[in-house]
Amino acid sequence: MLLLGYDLGSSSVKAVLLEADSGLAVASAQFPPAEMPIHAPQPGWAEQSPEDWWACIREVTRILLTMPGADAHAIGAIGISYQMHGLVALDADGAPVRPAIIWCDSRAVATGAQAFEALGTTYALGHLLNSPGNFTASKLRWVQQHEPDTYARIRHIMLPGDYIAYRLTGEIRTTVTGLSEGILWDFAENRLATELLHLYEIDQTLIPARCPVMGEQGLLTPAAAAALGLPSGIPITYRAGDQPNNALSLQVLEPGEIAATAGTSGVVYGVTDRVQYDPQSRVNTFAHVNHGANTRLGVLLCLNGCGILNSWARRITGATSYPMMNEAAATITPGSEGLTILPFGNGAERILGNLNPQAAVLGLDLNRHTHGHLYRAVQEGIAFALAWGIGIMRETGLDPAVIRAGSANMFLSPVFRETLAAATGVPIALYETDGAAGAARGAGLGLGYYPDTATAFAGLRQAGLTEPDPRLTTALAGAYDRWREALTRQTGIA
Ligand code: XUL
Repeated sequence: MLLLGYDLGSSSVKAVLLEADSGLAVASAQFPPAEMPIHAPQPGWAEQSPEDWWACIREVTRILLTMPGADAHAIGAIGISYQMHGLVALDADGAPVRPAIIWCDSRAVATGAQAFEALGTTYALGHLLNSPGNFTASKLRWVQQHEPDTYARIRHIMLPGDYIAYRLTGEIRTTVTGLSEGILWDFAENRLATELLHLYEIDQTLIPARCPVMGEQGLLTPAAAAALGLPSGIPITYRAGDQPNNALSLQVLEPGEIAATAGTSGVVYGVTDRVQYDPQSRVNTFAHVNHGANTRLGVLLCLNGCGILNSWARRITGATSYPMMNEAAATITPGSEGLTILPFGNGAERILGNLNPQAAVLGLDLNRHTHGHLYRAVQEGIAFALAWGIGIMRETGLDPAVIRAGSANMFLSPVFRETLAAATGVPIALYETDGAAGAARGAGLGLGYYPDTATAFAGLRQAGLTEPDPRLTTALAGAYDRWREALTRQTGIA
């Protein structure tokens, strides 16, 4: 049997067909080949079209099915991973009323901050585990206040992955994990966050009914099957936000286990069984994929400006590939000879209390610094920001002993892995997997094909281990201090 996993990211959709018994990918594809644009009609905004996502799903499936071993009739279940916290709003006919307002859009920062005051710290942190912040609920409130005609047409709101599931099954559903991403879940009461809905004057009927993260969520409709070239009736048995899904893909499910990604955004995500949150909401707590009878929460540190900065560096220097950039970065000494980069500039940064200081390049020596210095300083700047964020995670009581990451995106760069390990003092274990493979395994779990997670992850292979190198830690000390000073200068954060 094959399991089909989709991963709807901000820069592309990836799809994998996993052979369920061996856990090996028989085919994988990505579309579009170049990065999907994020539209910013106003500074700080970030939008994408849900219809474009669906077009990418169609195209990536078409490509996947041309590959050897890709037998559409052998697919037993479908799983979905998706970019988190976005707002998709549909009218009575099920059509999007406006482009999706995606995770890194900052327009609702002030809305969330006002709601935090109105709800009070005790309610917000005790029940929602986060301030309302700049998440889905606040984005919806923004539409209500700034685009009332559009708001009046909304009949259903959902997350990007709920929209894909809707296009596949015709059913409008969401999950507890999804509701927690949107700050629409009350953890203390184990129900919808009705106080927040009330404050935001959002009608509860706009919120979809719930389905399990793992379990039957609907069947592929004949129309969707025809659009994708798949047999109809395949069950959709898993959906999760890309970060909890990344954790699942790395078998990070139990307290103390930590996963990371370094795609468009960079994330460190730790599982806990205690109700832990950061009083300043610089790191956030959401329901993990296995939250239920046992408390399983994910403490999530997000850096918006991660791979998107690397992709910017590639574009402006005209570099032909990321491996070539990684090689050039490796020829430069640690610390990039004084070139310091703050990796922001992709919307409000939660680790900075939702400030958006934009990215900054400091210490540029026009007679010395080359493209290689720029590539290395980008990777170091990102690693330093994640290391700084891990410091905040430690304050909440999560102390990583080892970080697991998929062999993808920036983790493919030895400079990045070594710098992150040296700056945090934490070893990085690399695994041969990615979000789409995680979604496929999730589908197998949701289908009940795998009796337990140990069976589901029997095929997961560790590809390498990067231990912190004390000599590199010493070599980077000055660079990290410069980075910290630059952060304080740009943000006032000491
Ligand atoms: C996580 C977050 C981002 C998106 C990227 O909280 O906002 O990592 O999920 O798709």
